[in-house]
Amino acid sequence: MKISPRSNRLARSMLWAVAACMPVVVQAAPPPAKAGQETPAAARQAERGRYLVLITGCNDCHTPGYGASGGKVAEQDWLVGDTLGYSGPWGTTYPTNLRLLAAGMTEAQWLTLAGQKKMRPPMPWPSLHAMQQDDLKAIYRYITRLGPKGKPAPAYLPPGSKPRGPAVVFPAAPAPAKSGGAKGANGAAP
Ligand code: HEC
Repeated sequence: MKISPRSNRLARSMLWAVAACMPVVVQAAPPPAKAGQETPAAARQAERGRYLVLITGCNDCHTPGYGASGGKVAEQDWLVGDTLGYSGPWGTTYPTNLRLLAAGMTEAQWLTLAGQKKMRPPMPWPSLHAMQQDDLKAIYRYITRLGPKGKPAPAYLPPGSKPRGPAVVFPAAPAPAKSGGAKGANGAAP
């Protein structure tokens, strides 16, 4: 089909008019990149997450053998959860497989869980709640970059159920002082 210069010009100006009316879609955050096609910013964020995981001790409970070996566990095996239980008046808890957990969550879900959920002992959840959003995001980025691995940790057992595998047994805590000290730990949470 032959297009005359005039109708071509007209078509072009109409296109501009249509384009000018179109809503501008700005994507708030890029989708998480696959390994190998990570942006430099995402790589820096994951590196910060790795650093935070390292200095805040998540591996001590969530990585089998980490504490006992003085941290001599290959990074590819970090945060897969543990079958070593922690028994006390709360029952028996098992450090969650964070690789599977994070892989099944959006960043927003992670922020709500890590920032607000009260977990059972000995999970130091007040420390998680006290973290800034950027730090929680960095940890999420790092864990999702590690990718899913391993099996889910054993399910929580209520008080009175005997764990089948090994468990660290905590003695009953002394009765809290009457001065309201037990509440203090949470007072600093934002
Ligand atoms: C002293 C041991 C210990 C340390 C250190 C620890 N955790 Fe945990 N964590 C646990 C246990 C035990 C559970 C299971 C708690 C439960 O059953 O409520 C858990 C559960 C969790 C959960 C899942 C909670 C849920 O309800 O699904 C998240 C998320 C988590 N830990 C993140 C972290 C991060 C991030 C760090 C490092 C900042 C960390 N943990 C350090 C022991 C620990």
